[in-house]
Amino acid sequence: MRAVGLHRYLPIDHPESLLDVELPEPEPGPRDLRVRVRAVAVNPVDVKVRSPKPRVEGAPRVLGWDAAGVVEAVGAEVTAFRPGDRVYYAGSIARPGSNAEVHLVDERIAGPMPRTLGFADAAALPLTALTAWEGLFERLGVEPDGRDAGRTVLVIGGAGGVGSMVVQLAKAAGLRVVATASREESRAWAALLGADVLVDHRAPLRPQLEAAGMKGVELIFNTQSTEAWWDTMADVVAPLGRIVGIVETSGPVDLGKLMSKSASFSWELMFTRSIHGTPDMAAQREILARVAAWVDAGRLRTTRREHLGRIDAANLRAAHARLESGQTVGKIVLEGWD
Ligand SMILES: NC(=O)c1ccc[n+]([C@@H]2O[C@H](COP(=O)([O-])OP(=O)(O)OC[C@H]3O[C@@H](n4cnc5c(N)ncnc54)[C@H](OP(=O)(O)O)[C@@H]3O)[C@@H](O)[C@H]2O)c1
Repeated sequence: MRAVGLHRYLPIDHPESLLDVELPEPEPGPRDLRVRVRAVAVNPVDVKVRSPKPRVEGAPRVLGWDAAGVVEAVGAEVTAFRPGDRVYYAGSIARPGSNAEVHLVDERIAGPMPRTLGFADAAALPLTALTAWEGLFERLGVEPDGRDAGRTVLVIGGAGGVGSMVVQLAKAAGLRVVATASREESRAWAALLGADVLVDHRAPLRPQLEAAGMKGVELIFNTQSTEAWWDTMADVVAPLGRIVGIVETSGPVDLGKLMSKSASFSWELMFTRSIHGTPDMAAQREILARVAAWVDAGRLRTTRREHLGRIDAANLRAAHARLESGQTVGKIVLEGWD
């Protein structure tokens, strides 16, 4: 089968940073789906895993943690899917990625693809939808069914891949959304997705929030650097407020800054369930099924913004380079192998 992989961890402008390779087709384990991959999306995690380092891989390492495709075979213990089903999923960071014609994914972390979307539009969604859903509804404790309507969430990085899903899910749950975006294009996109108030993350937030009538915000979803945003979040979070972060730290942050407000901070890592095989791992299938249902009901839209053509090393290098700019809006996808 065709795949895109790497042997060496090189800067993205190096022609061997991602290579077209030929690999044997994998055999499914008992709970695996064998999926013929039709479209993939790229995420910052691909860039982080690929980042330059001295290690060398003997066999090509395949990246990619967002896919949509068709189930062509299932393991002996699979009950949720059959050959022919269309699925979309992020997969597990502990297994080879989805930039391959044929890919294995555990049935507990794959969802039925939205019926109203094609493969490219569907591939844009799973990783960011899982992150946004778990962060908003499980860590920040917002009720998805509208019982929290009227509460306010601040989404830092409101037009990025994750932010695009947080804004939409928060609006679908009835929240008032304050989103940060710094450029005309990203502001327009966040507004299109439903953000009620736009603020600029390149300027101090407190005066902008106060100008919009807010002394503090009770819920903060930070999709960007935890360290860089820590002091601002501690400043603008309301007493008893909650913050969720999704970006790893490289040094300590001062938790003490949250104490006088009894504010809380939670991590969200969408790979936690698959890395640790948690007993509730199949919750990710349920989340993806609910997201698909919300898409089909017109409550959510795809976040695909760019289609860079077929899945090959040259196009994936271009996609990584775009992500490394830090200025992408929505998601970048690739589709097909010919
Ligand atoms: N923990 C998890 O499970 C998880 C899951 C997914 C992603 N992540 C991590 O979350 C981060 C974001 O992922 P993503 O896919 O959303 O990234 P992305 O799409 O590349 O984010 C791009 C957006 O970030 C905004 N931005 C750039 N600098 C900013 C700043 N200083 N403050 C606020 N916003 C800024 C940009 O807005 P403007 O263009 O308007 O400046 C742009 O729209 C990455 O580090 C990724 O690895 C973690």
